Amino acid sequence: MLDFIKRRKTTYQFSDKKIQGRDIVKILEAARWAPSSKNSQPWKFIVVKNKANIEKIVSECYYNLFHTTPQLIIAVVMDTKTPVRRLESLEMELRYINMGMPVVNMCYEAQMLGIGSCILRPLGNEVEKILKIPNNKKVPIVVGFGYEDKKTKQPKRTRKELRGIVRYERYSE
Ligand SMILES: Cc1cc2nc3c(=O)[nH]c(=O)nc-3n(C[C@H](O)[C@H](O)[C@H](O)COP(=O)(O)O)c2cc1C
Repeated sequence: MLDFIKRRKTTYQFSDKKIQGRDIVKILEAARWAPSSKNSQPWKFIVVKNKANIEKIVSECYYNLFHTTPQLIIAVVMDTKTPVRRLESLEMELRYINMGMPVVNMCYEAQMLGIGSCILRPLGNEVEKILKIPNNKKVPIVVGFGYEDKKTKQPKRTRKELRGIVRYERYSE
């Protein structure tokens, strides 16, 4: 598992190869089984296959110039009956924490299937407009999927050392 985790990476260059429908369902199943606070499952997933819409969505995300267009986007909708702007801050924090869970599950399921992924953060509310999201909901994150174009030059992937990020029993610098 650890080796598998270390091999997951952001894919920056996608080939034209289409993702099979049954693989999309597996990726969505992985999202469905993600943990959430009180098992609230406060999300909906929008599967975007339309190339023009994918291009528009990617162009509304941060660092979009580093990516070619993925074959598929799954947008994570932060779903709530209470309008997002009226949520109390603790509840709001939990909602955002919840959003990361299906994202990671989807990336790993895709990796299992040999499919690359990239996590993208929409910059404004254009993505919500494109996807016709009601005013009281948000799309804090979208995930792009596709087969990696093997010609890609991968930026060097690094992580902080454990000794820099782990403390025992209490906090210290
Ligand atoms: C919450 C979140 C938001 C991210 N948003 C973007 C983004 O908008 N654009 C982008 O190019 N990468 C984005 N990334 C990808 C990270 O930059 C990437 O995961 C990180 O640099 C580590 O590289 P790796 O995924 O190859 O291990 C995001 C990742 C996370 C977890």
